[in-house]
Amino acid sequence: DQKKRFAVATERYCERRSGRGVTEQEAWEDHQARKARVRFGANDKKGVVDGYEFVFDDLKGLLEESIEAETGKHRSCYSKTVAEKARKEREFLPIHGYREELLKLIEENQVLVIVGETGSGKTTQIPQYLQEAGYTKRGKIGCTQPRRVAAMSVASRVAQEVGVKLGHEVGYSIRFEDCTSEKTVVKYMTDGMLLRELLTEPKLDSYSVIIIDEAHERTLSTDILFALVKDVAKVRPDLRLIISSATLEAKKFSEYFDSARIYLIPGRRYPVEKLFRKSPEPDYLETVIRTVVQIHQNEPIGDILVFLTGQEEIETVETNLKQRMMDLGTKGSEIIICPIYSNLPTELQAKVFEPAPKGSRKVVLATNIAETSLTIDGIRYVIDPGYCKINSYNPRTGMESLLVSPISKASAEQRAGRSGRTGPGKCFRLYNIKDLEPTTIPEIQRANLASVVLTLKSLGIQDVFNFDFMDPPPANVLLKALELLYALGALDENGEITKVGERMVEFPVYPMLSKMIVGSEKYKCSKEIITVAAMLSVGNSIFYRPKNKQVLADTARMKFYEGTENVGDHIALLRVYNEWKETNYTTQWCYDNYIQSKSMKRARDIRDQLLGLLNKIGIELTSNPNDLDAIKKAILAGFFPHSAKLQKNGSYRRVKEPQTVYVHPNSGLFGVSPSKWLVYHELVLTTKEYMRHTTEMKPEWLIEIAPHYYELKDIEDTRPKKKQRRSERASTSKVDTNKKTRTSKVDRNKK
Ligand code: CDP
Ligand code: MG
Repeated sequence: DQKKRFAVATERYCERRSGRGVTEQEAWEDHQARKARVRFGANDKKGVVDGYEFVFDDLKGLLEESIEAETGKHRSCYSKTVAEKARKEREFLPIHGYREELLKLIEENQVLVIVGETGSGKTTQIPQYLQEAGYTKRGKIGCTQPRRVAAMSVASRVAQEVGVKLGHEVGYSIRFEDCTSEKTVVKYMTDGMLLRELLTEPKLDSYSVIIIDEAHERTLSTDILFALVKDVAKVRPDLRLIISSATLEAKKFSEYFDSARIYLIPGRRYPVEKLFRKSPEPDYLETVIRTVVQIHQNEPIGDILVFLTGQEEIETVETNLKQRMMDLGTKGSEIIICPIYSNLPTELQAKVFEPAPKGSRKVVLATNIAETSLTIDGIRYVIDPGYCKINSYNPRTGMESLLVSPISKASAEQRAGRSGRTGPGKCFRLYNIKDLEPTTIPEIQRANLASVVLTLKSLGIQDVFNFDFMDPPPANVLLKALELLYALGALDENGEITKVGERMVEFPVYPMLSKMIVGSEKYKCSKEIITVAAMLSVGNSIFYRPKNKQVLADTARMKFYEGTENVGDHIALLRVYNEWKETNYTTQWCYDNYIQSKSMKRARDIRDQLLGLLNKIGIELTSNPNDLDAIKKAILAGFFPHSAKLQKNGSYRRVKEPQTVYVHPNSGLFGVSPSKWLVYHELVLTTKEYMRHTTEMKPEWLIEIAPHYYELKDIEDTRPKKKQRRSERASTSKVDTNKKTRTSKVDRNKK
């Protein structure tokens, strides 16, 4: 087995060295392989294999810096040829022939709905046409994308085509990452970022054109943008608005924008043969692998695109597919696996667009992002298991979760179409299309709206119930959002935004988190709290847990939990950051402690931004590192609705909801002697409803911090002491009446 693996490794290595452009990832792997050889003196075959594998798993962080320098060299010589090619390719895109007509229509119509087959060149070309036609003299061209990766990769492609450095004339802006400069005239950004820009620039004065791209995706932010830009257009006759969509929902868009003109860009499409299974497969990942192998062995050359639901699935398929190919004795060079998902490091994203070397086949493992947002050339085969992850929100429990759900018929057609762009294609559907719903429900009808409502309130939109939604959300979800914002102190009893609310809006995070930050002022620990907030915003990738070193990794992790009391996950995250900072942010420290240095760097960037915002709204930077109670109280100031109490059977119960929840297995509080009361960051639903990131707290803090939300009876022990009870009753009644008057006012306002 090892021999085989060595053969594969060497072969790939030789192939890379010989001639064709070396990609960053490959240069990186080469470098690691070389270092490994030096480091372990491993010159015999077996050693190299061992070294290679060892390095690949463990030395990533350690070698990162030197590798970056190394890959930089490759990158610059590689990108020159790519840029030339990209410029030439512009003329071959379907949209090219419609350039003049399109420009004329944009000139004549303030709002234009453009529909075009995916890959026809809408996203990359229209902004360039507009720039060439002189629109950028009047202001920037903004183009929104529902996905971060799409914004980044499209901007980088366009920068290449224009022949400028990314971030200069062509740039992008996504949350916590601004790659633009004063020079930037073509700006790609996530829809959420344009929404934030509206807060400071309500008339979008610095723009001459706004393109709402991928409108068919109907993300929450895109839907809100529709209404807002529609309004802006009324007061800015010079502004041009383009709504661009890949599907025929265009009629609906046109109607919404007062019968705006629709322009169709005919695409080139080759026939796609669709094969399907009558009944769904129980283990569809296994079916995916079998299908890839089958295509590889029986079908003519051409790349394969597989639609999966997320990073975990992609990684599973990648590992298993590699193994399967080896078992079959396939040469490693024959199949090149390229994953693409939103958390994939930027430098690895480029690989997916590079053509496979002669004689080999590229297998792209992608999330929904490849459905319409990204076009990868050379795809002839699509494997579609028929699922995607969609956000769903339960207003009763306030729980938001990403659920794997069947796709819609419209999505299925889009996915199949990806195989027929450059020649006749084949789509392998692992389901029966008859079982699918025609279209996906827009996100606004299945999402938590707290953030959106706060943004709208901050924009001065009082009556959110009568907002010009393209498809209105359920009223109870809006109500729930108003209630939460009121509880957090962001809205007053008349539903108007408060000082606290205005401060919260400044932070590009959801309301509970921004309240935690704003609330830290009172507890004099803003310095610690922005660190916690930054670490929480990075997501789940702080701790590194390689398969062959789980015990060591867990031991390393538990060091951050040591102390006299149950420290909890928030404090542990704080400790991780502070210790890293003490070593002057070294990668070596991350490596020694099983921490992902990439994530830490990201946390540091996010923290810097939060720090800037803290300054902006005038919250002093205060620190109280030894007063854990103060830090916990600040956390509670935002997250008090997320409280849970231990039950006899070891599970927890939410204090204000009849919901049983559990400590997440990844928590440092999992399996240790349980704390009676916990505050948690979020709930995730896998096999059970798990609390992710939990910290111990004292129940009386709930009353102290959120007297309008909790009553003494919520935190009472099951066996209350007599004396205590009497005094409690007195104060409870006070709280109660207080609460009643306030709530009734809010209620009236809402109706
Ligand atoms: O927006 P639309 O789907 O109409 O097409 P596009 O994204 O503008 O893509 C036009 C062409 O640019 C496609 O042929 C892609 O292969 C290419 N492209 C690329 O090579 N790299 C990117 N990051 C984006 C697009
Ligand atoms: Mg596009």
